[in-house]
Amino acid sequence: MSRIAVVPGSFDPVTLGHLDVIGRAAGIFDELHVLVVHNPGKTALLPIAQRVALLEQSIAEAGLPGNITVTSWSVGLLVDYCTEVGASVLVKGIRSQVDVAYETPMAIVNRNLAGVETVFLLPNPANAYVSSSLVRQVSALGGDVSPYVPSAVSAYLATK
Ligand code: PNS
Repeated sequence: MSRIAVVPGSFDPVTLGHLDVIGRAAGIFDELHVLVVHNPGKTALLPIAQRVALLEQSIAEAGLPGNITVTSWSVGLLVDYCTEVGASVLVKGIRSQVDVAYETPMAIVNRNLAGVETVFLLPNPANAYVSSSLVRQVSALGGDVSPYVPSAVSAYLATK
């Protein structure tokens, strides 16, 4: 039986930290779905379709394995998507204790809702300080975000 996992997130925009976690997860599971999900607690910068396109370009440019697909979900719970595609595991990157505190309640709720387990991966420490919100702020103020994001993202943000 093939083991299907989902890497969910806002990906607004995808960062080098996200790509690192996606690449590691793709090496562990048979099938990996990278899922752009609307986070009701955040004000979005990029339209969801643009986030999907940038993820697809970045994954291709990074030469990540072919068992990765990118899609979006906006019609219900994250675990509803997991049930629909037969995924039993969510994968999240953990950079710090702040991430542990943020992710733990969601992991427990997702397990209670549908029996979907969450696996936490430790990313490359070089990306430990990289976040989409930092990238959005630096970009909005005219700074160089190229050290933190895939080249497709820095090229796109430069046009904004
Ligand atoms: O990248 P983010 O913003 O930290 O990702 C958070 C996200 C989108 C994964 C989270 O907000 C989420 O799971 N939203 C879907 C709604 C849902 O299923 N909520 C209940 C379980 S937490």
